[in-house]
Amino acid sequence: MFESLKPMPADPLLQIIAAHRADTRSDKIDLGVGVFRDEAGGTPILRAVKAAERYLVANQPTKGYLGIEGDPVFTDLLRPIIFGKNGGDASLVPGIQTPGGGGALRLGGELIATARPDAKLWLGTPSWPNHRPIFEAVKLEVREYRFADLTTQTLLFDEMMAALRQASAGDVVLLHGCCHNPTGLDLNHDQWREVADLCSANGLIPFVDLAYQGLGESLEADAMGLRTIFERVPELLLAYSCDKNFGLYRERTGALYVKASSADLARNVASNLAVHARVSWSMPPDHGAAVVRAILEQPELEADWQAEVAEMGQRIRAVRRAIASAAPSLSAIAHEYGLFSNLAVSREQVDALRTEHGIYIAPSGRMNVAGLKVEDAPRLVAALDAIGAL
Ligand code: LMR
Repeated sequence: MFESLKPMPADPLLQIIAAHRADTRSDKIDLGVGVFRDEAGGTPILRAVKAAERYLVANQPTKGYLGIEGDPVFTDLLRPIIFGKNGGDASLVPGIQTPGGGGALRLGGELIATARPDAKLWLGTPSWPNHRPIFEAVKLEVREYRFADLTTQTLLFDEMMAALRQASAGDVVLLHGCCHNPTGLDLNHDQWREVADLCSANGLIPFVDLAYQGLGESLEADAMGLRTIFERVPELLLAYSCDKNFGLYRERTGALYVKASSADLARNVASNLAVHARVSWSMPPDHGAAVVRAILEQPELEADWQAEVAEMGQRIRAVRRAIASAAPSLSAIAHEYGLFSNLAVSREQVDALRTEHGIYIAPSGRMNVAGLKVEDAPRLVAALDAIGAL
């Protein structure tokens, strides 16, 4: 049967991991996959995570199954962090633990495709390269619009609104909650309000992807957009990831929350999510969620985690400032948020950066600024100059 399969290309983003690993140059720089690194170039396990893991080794009573929804205490403990104090009432906003933010996006896509198979999914470009394939995999029609101009590093808000005005009631609008991947260009407060008002007036359903909370400005500020839109619309989906802000990457720790307009509908949503999850992964992996739970249940650990998130954000902003001050033409980078900025470079320039300078960025020109040491900013800028990218 497998004769009929065509060979598929490797994932261009994840290929960078292997290519960088195989490079023997000692001064190589990895700005590929979205992983935070400290000034020493490592991705250490957070102090709070280590402490929580020690706590689990000593106190976790069993590895028995938890169930399809994972651990409801985990999804409930995240609610105030995501939705604000007393926000995200569980009777109207069921939550389900998922394998990472990617699992939450896929599960949300399944729910939409079941509820309204003819809904269109509106996606601003460029976006995370996996967004489109995830929604196409559940047979939703994806409509793209231009979200950013990379040459000027600007967010095309008017084009976005013009595109979304074409959407029909029941269509879904994918929004990056903060730290836009790949551009770092986030909507401001007024823009979130305008998008929220349009969704509310035209019956559009926001699907917010919040994968980097805390790594932009702060945990609170990075949830502002979500909270603005959440309170203005009757229905919304939220894909949440703990992979970056808890540094749990390989543990694949995430959740999907769905706001419904009544408790009855919310129960229906929850039962549908459970069925989709059961046929997809049966039950989510526990370890990452158990760590998050152990942190959020212990005030000293939570405080330490919050301090570590703030430290990560500070380092990212320092790298951004260092790049901008080394190259005036890249000054916009200092005003972008989160791990990524997307340079307006060609594939040939990306290749030259790798082969001639040992600097790895995504083929699209996306660079993970959180992978750069502040002291290496002048070297990056010199390399960009040498390949004609400034
Ligand atoms: C990224 O965008 O680099 C990360 O979200 C990793 C991934 O799965 O693509």
